[in-house]
Amino acid sequence: MRTPADLFRGNAAIFDCERFYSCVGATFAAWALPRLARSDGKNKEFAMRIGVIGMGNVGRALAPQWAKHGHQVTLCVRDPADPQRMEEAAAMNVKLGPVSAAGMCEVIVLAIPFTAVSEVLRSAGDLTGKLILDCTNPVNQDLSDLTMGYDRSAGEEIAQLAPTAQVVKILNTNGAKNMTDPDYGDHRVTMFYAGDDPAANRIAAQLAAELGFEPIELGPLKMSRLLEPLAMTWIILARHRGLGRDFGIDVVRRPQK
Ligand SMILES: NC(=O)c1ccc[n+]([C@@H]2O[C@H](COP(=O)([O-])OP(=O)(O)OC[C@H]3O[C@@H](n4cnc5c(N)ncnc54)[C@H](OP(=O)(O)O)[C@@H]3O)[C@@H](O)[C@H]2O)c1
Repeated sequence: MRTPADLFRGNAAIFDCERFYSCVGATFAAWALPRLARSDGKNKEFAMRIGVIGMGNVGRALAPQWAKHGHQVTLCVRDPADPQRMEEAAAMNVKLGPVSAAGMCEVIVLAIPFTAVSEVLRSAGDLTGKLILDCTNPVNQDLSDLTMGYDRSAGEEIAQLAPTAQVVKILNTNGAKNMTDPDYGDHRVTMFYAGDDPAANRIAAQLAAELGFEPIELGPLKMSRLLEPLAMTWIILARHRGLGRDFGIDVVRRPQK
């Protein structure tokens, strides 16, 4: 089984500038390369500034995991002066800041309700060249259905709200508990993702692999139209069909003979 480190080694071609520039948009590549090569933190080749907006189930699950991998993580919240949150962030080894602090990061993670995205992106500052990881699911109040689909998606709407950023739909098809602990014995849970830019997709996949998932690309951002109903499937199984939170939806491969 491949470990996250193996996966990153498999992506070593990303440092071959010629091949890299030939296969991705130059603008995003120019943004991504220096950051991929930055040498600080535990994961010396891949340390990034990550602004996780929202300190609910998802934000609390993701932030400390990435901090353990050497990234500089800021939890961006509405009340950064709250003493309890400050204490919690310190225990996670992450910074606490206002939503506007996300604009200072290279990667912005939307761990907020979809209904809050428009307001939050307005407060986050200049998003040019940023990588936005969209974890949101456009669900109704009682989590029984999606509020949009199947001819549009939250992922695409977010890309329209942030046209100068690169949006990757990811981390929406697993419960927060899997983000903290995706260990199912000898099995790594699949994390599907979708985005239009190969370099952005690769970084998103690496960040998911660091959490312990097996990232699998579904295609362009438009595929969010499939990932959001897949998340709804997970939610229905978890909440209405008695599966609880200790399961994942997986790609299972036949062993090679
Ligand atoms: N829960 C899961 O297992 C799971 C899994 C995959 C994807 N998702 C998706 O991920 C997103 C977050 O889910 P969650 O379970 O973490 O939600 P949650 O526990 O309700 O937390 C939501 C967070 O968003 C913040 N927030 C809400 N409105 C905001 C605004 N206008 N400005 C700034 N922050 C705002 C809240 O801040 P306050 O603390 O200040 O209220 C809270 O910290 C949702 O879109 C959900 O569909 C959830």
